[in-house]
Amino acid sequence: MNPLGRMLVWISGASAGLGAALAATIPFDADLVDISRRGGTPGAFHVAVDLADPASWPVVADDFDRRLSTFDGDTVVFIHNAGTLTPLGSAGRVDTEEYTRNVLLNSASAQVLGQAFLQAVAGKPYHQHLIMVSSGAAKNPHEGESSYCAGKAGIDQWVRTVGLEQDRRSPYCRVISVSPGAVDTDMQAELRASTEDQVPDAQHFRELDAQGLLAKPEDVARSIWSLLDRDLPNGTVLHISDVT
Ligand SMILES: NC(=O)c1ccc[n+]([C@@H]2O[C@H](COP(=O)([O-])OP(=O)(O)OC[C@H]3O[C@@H](n4cnc5c(N)ncnc54)[C@H](OP(=O)(O)O)[C@@H]3O)[C@@H](O)[C@H]2O)c1
Repeated sequence: MNPLGRMLVWISGASAGLGAALAATIPFDADLVDISRRGGTPGAFHVAVDLADPASWPVVADDFDRRLSTFDGDTVVFIHNAGTLTPLGSAGRVDTEEYTRNVLLNSASAQVLGQAFLQAVAGKPYHQHLIMVSSGAAKNPHEGESSYCAGKAGIDQWVRTVGLEQDRRSPYCRVISVSPGAVDTDMQAELRASTEDQVPDAQHFRELDAQGLLAKPEDVARSIWSLLDRDLPNGTVLHISDVT
């Protein structure tokens, strides 16, 4: 029996990488919605949006409201997983339009979609979980990834703050941030393909792969799902290696 009951789950970026692995490893029966450009996730509804375009955010908010208006199940989950490294390179030298898209996706969409989800579930009787996918880049500066690092640091502080706010609510949404570690996805391939001029540490990422140190997306995904069952304080910011 599913202790979480009937579930409705949104995953942004479920079309590839860690998001696709999260979609493939949901441990319970759930209605699943993929929020991405490509879609194609088996068994999922698709909200086809470019999250680097602010015009897409109300589309996602409408999807939250529309599906929740008829949902009478037990648990709702939103995992905001979509992210991008592009453009790799130093601030001041990369393309401004690409940089703007990076900021809109990594920083702004996380906060605005998080707010939209909290608004959609506020006061509702079911269990509510919002999981933000962060990165070690939130704490450690990586040259060539300034807006990515800043975006992930912003996500962590947003989660700490909103966690305190939700603690005052009843019912509340449990909001946490999880850093998945180095995972074998296209994002890592993009790092390995970068030049030392773009990412001075590029060799480190090539070595991670060569030494077999990249985690399998499905293993990380299962650890992330296990967080739903854990008694974590609201606003927890954790690294997946903390999950034993
Ligand atoms: N891989 C790692 O080692 C690693 C390490 C630390 C943190 N992370 C974090 O883990 C998460 C998943 O990363 P990943 O490695 O799985 O990356 P990935 O393989 O590049 O996949 C990225 C996902 O995000 C979606 N996405 C990207 N830009 C989007 C946009 N403009 N609009 C909508 N969706 C968009 C993509 O879907 P579409 O292209 O279909 O839109 C895709 O499903 C990210 O938040 C990343 O920062 C990864």
